[in-house]
Amino acid sequence: MRQKIVAGNWKMNTLVCEGVELVNGIVSKMGEVPSDVRLIVCPPFTHIVSVGDALKGSRVSLGAQNCANQPKGAFTGEVSAAMLKSCCCEYVILGHSERREYYGETSETLNAKMALALENGLKPIYCVGEKLEEREAGKHFEIVKAQIEEVLFNLTPEQMAQVVVAYEPVWAIGTGKTATSAQAQEIHAFIRATLASKFGELAEEISILYGGSCKPSNAPELFSQKDIDGGLIGGAALKADDFIGIAKSY
Ligand code: 13P
Repeated sequence: MRQKIVAGNWKMNTLVCEGVELVNGIVSKMGEVPSDVRLIVCPPFTHIVSVGDALKGSRVSLGAQNCANQPKGAFTGEVSAAMLKSCCCEYVILGHSERREYYGETSETLNAKMALALENGLKPIYCVGEKLEEREAGKHFEIVKAQIEEVLFNLTPEQMAQVVVAYEPVWAIGTGKTATSAQAQEIHAFIRATLASKFGELAEEISILYGGSCKPSNAPELFSQKDIDGGLIGGAALKADDFIGIAKSY
């Protein structure tokens, strides 16, 4: 059985006190979430310790949104995978389209980050997804395949088993425009087949999340698809009721 996951990517939102209030709200409603669903929150770096303290003793896991591509040293402004681990982070989002687009992250950078995350015992949530013009040109399979091959194909099966994949079509992020469940299922099945071409049966065990304008109203239809194991949620993760509403959608 693949792990069902609903992960919240808070991006650059909330102040520390607001983040703590948000997780307190999430934790107080966890009784409504089926016990086989894992919830993960990924706040900004500055919130990680306070949010982690608020999560102690709950079923909600802690993640970060990024980590450095260097282990330590003179890299002003960076946060290492080891530092995240020392703050009790379990997960780290890598390769989000906003990092690829605005901060120039390439497969080369992501290979370094992936290796450091895994060496430090973090579970990477690796994001893939095409831009609007790429989908319109019918290139979405090709783009997603390259994003998988250039990074995930460098892992050992033991490392791959630690990874969660998130498919986030860039045209659906923060736009209110969701992929239809059929569009999402089609590419999720393609991602699983691509993983299977390298890792065989292990591909059946890998959780593949959908991200892009996911909300309580569309999550049940998306999560009912065979190869969609949950969601990576942006805007709707900033409201406890919406985040819990999505987690109740299975
Ligand atoms: P939205 O849910 O706001 O579209 O963002 C999705 C996302 O980018 C999660 O990583």
